[in-house]
Amino acid sequence: MAEENKTNGSNLTTGTTGAPGTNGRNGKDGKVGILEKVTTGVKDDIQALRTDIPSKAKEQIDGLKDPTKTQVYTSIFRHKHDDTPRNRALGVLSNVFLHLHPAKINRDAVRYSYTWGMGGITFYLFIILTYTGVLLMFYYHPTKVQAFRDVLYLEHDVPFGKILRNMHRWAAHLMVIAVWLHMFRVFLTGSYKKPREFNWNIGVLLLVFTLLLSFTGYLLPDDQLGFWAVTVGTNMARATPLLGHEGPFGHQLGMTPYNDVRFGLLGGSIVDANALLRSYIWHCIGIPIVASVLMIVHFWRVRKDGGISGPGQVMLQEEADKPRRGPKAAGE
Ligand code: HEM
Repeated sequence: MAEENKTNGSNLTTGTTGAPGTNGRNGKDGKVGILEKVTTGVKDDIQALRTDIPSKAKEQIDGLKDPTKTQVYTSIFRHKHDDTPRNRALGVLSNVFLHLHPAKINRDAVRYSYTWGMGGITFYLFIILTYTGVLLMFYYHPTKVQAFRDVLYLEHDVPFGKILRNMHRWAAHLMVIAVWLHMFRVFLTGSYKKPREFNWNIGVLLLVFTLLLSFTGYLLPDDQLGFWAVTVGTNMARATPLLGHEGPFGHQLGMTPYNDVRFGLLGGSIVDANALLRSYIWHCIGIPIVASVLMIVHFWRVRKDGGISGPGQVMLQEEADKPRRGPKAAGE
């Protein structure tokens, strides 16, 4: 037993493996064992290189002939190109961008004659607005001294400035029109009904935020049009129930022109520098962030509610003429 323990100990120190007592009984044998192992290991490696390198090289060359066989390609696309329903679904599901769309959809639900494409157009306009808006931010300062001058500078001196500003303006007008039309379509097709009530409510919020985006952008050129529009708009806020100093119960709640909701919106009691800065921050940061989050929820819900609602099922004449079974057969 003592001998065995000693042997095991020697195995450990020389680092050889194998059953204790059969190999590496003393230091000398241990060294021979290691040498043999290293030699056979190296031989194996050389043999592997002889066979592996040519086969790997062949693989690479084949890959160059057919790019779909390269490691880069197969690491990105993990399925074949066969045009089968299963493979098409896999193609969509295993791609981060494509998987945003469902793998299968109801053909009738995505017809333009049904959706008018208005939800998609509204979203597309929002993307254009974000893109052109960020570019406009490079030239615009939200201060009383510079704002209007920046707009003139954009209109007359900045290369492509006029088209940039007008793309932003026109996309803004169109987005307001598109969102109304989208809501109208959803209403006409009854798509606000179960199970889509929640998404209708998200939509109502999106409508409000779209209008707020439009309204806050109005003041930014700091021209007469925007100034008076915001003067009228925020004067209406005086009459807000509870929160406006002229609104129902406002007076009782201690609202004055210097602490009510209008004061909060303008950052003062008149439309001036603070109002311009607040409009700018709401317009460029606050509202777009909230609207983007709501849009993500909105699109997610469209998927979770079973996709776009789709028109009622259409029957062929021969299907309609077929004798029916079940309770409806008796005309109930
Ligand atoms: C920024 C605003 C909005 C965007 C970007 C947007 C986008 C979309 C998109 C892309 C769809 C898929 C179907 C389609 O294109 O028609 C959709 C569906 C829907 N939207 Fe909107 N939407 C917005 C505002 C609204 C508003 C204001 C409402 C209603 C108050 C609304 C209610 C709905 C409902 C209920 C659906 C499901 C319709 C169905 O399944 O047929 N959305 N939305």
